[in-house]
Amino acid sequence: MDLGLAGKVAIVTGASRGIGRAIALRLAAEGMDVALVARSGTLLDEVRREIDALGREAVAFPADLRDPEAPARVVAATSGALGRLDLVVNNAGATKRGDFLALTDEDWADGFALKFFGAVRMTRAAWPLLQAVGGAVVIIAGNGGRTGDREFAIGGTVNAALGLLTKALADRGIADGVRVNTINPGIVETDRFQARLKRLVDETGVGEAEAYDRMRAAHRVARFGRPEEVADLVAVMASGRVGYLQGAVVDLDGGETRTL
Ligand SMILES: NC(=O)c1ccc[n+]([C@@H]2O[C@H](COP(=O)([O-])OP(=O)(O)OC[C@H]3O[C@@H](n4cnc5c(N)ncnc54)[C@H](OP(=O)(O)O)[C@@H]3O)[C@@H](O)[C@H]2O)c1
Repeated sequence: MDLGLAGKVAIVTGASRGIGRAIALRLAAEGMDVALVARSGTLLDEVRREIDALGREAVAFPADLRDPEAPARVVAATSGALGRLDLVVNNAGATKRGDFLALTDEDWADGFALKFFGAVRMTRAAWPLLQAVGGAVVIIAGNGGRTGDREFAIGGTVNAALGLLTKALADRGIADGVRVNTINPGIVETDRFQARLKRLVDETGVGEAEAYDRMRAAHRVARFGRPEEVADLVAVMASGRVGYLQGAVVDLDGGETRTL
C-alpha cells in the first residue's frame, strides 16, 4: 500500500535510539526526508548515515528539548535545510519512576519539561508550516496515561495530559487542516527493556526466557511490542490514506489496557 509519504519531510524527536530511531528509519523507507533530534549527536549521526543509505536525506539536530528555545530552533533549521515540514513526531520522553513520596518537585518538573512542554513547544512552532501543507502531528505517549500505577505517577500523568492535548489540538486542526493523533504504547522491547530484563535475571537467578514470561504474565499480555510496530503505526497515521483519523488516542499495547 502506497502511503503517499514520499518526498515529504518529518521531524522525529528522540530519534537517536529505541522507538524514535525505528520511526525515523521507517519514515525514510517510505521516502520521507527526516530531521533527527536528541541530545547525543554521535548516535544521531549513526541514524543519519542509515537514512543516507536508504537514499533519503536526514539532518541531525542535537538539542536538549527541555530548553524552551530548542523546539523553535529545530523547526526553523528543518525548514531551512529540507524546505518544508509535513509531519512532527513528538516521541522524546523520559520520566522518573518511583514512590510518590520520594519524587521531588524537580523530578516532576523534569518529566513535564521534556515530554509534555517539549511536545507543546515543538507543535506550536511547527503548526504554521504544517497548516501550509495539510500536515500531521503524531505523539508517542504511553498506556500509563490510561491506568494509574503507584510507581509511575509522573509518566502516567504526563501521558494523560498528552491525550487531552491531542483532543484540543485536533479540535483546532479540524479548522486548520492539521491532523493530530497519539499512540499509547505498552511495554516495547527497546535497549531499556533489555536492561530491565537483565536486572530481573540477575535478581532472581531465573533464565531470560523465564524472566520474560514472568513480566509478560504480570502485564497480562501475550508478548511485548517491538519498536518497528510503533513505527509502522506512525507511518499509517501520518498517511493521507487515513485522513479521517483525527484526535485519536490509540493503545498499541497487546491488549493490556482493558478499560474504554
Ligand atoms: N519503551 C517503552 O516500553 C515505552 C512504553 C510506552 C511509552 N514509551 C514512550 O516512547 C517514547 C520513546 O521511548 P523509548 O523507550 O524509545 O526511549 P529511549 O530508548 O530512552 O529513547 C529516548 C529518546 O529520547 C531522547 N531524549 C531523552 N532526553 C532528551 C532530551 N532532554 N532532549 C532531547 N532528546 C532527549 C534520547 O536521546 P538522548 O538521550 O541522546 O537525548 C532518545 O533518543 C518515550 O516518550 C517513552 O515514554 C516507551
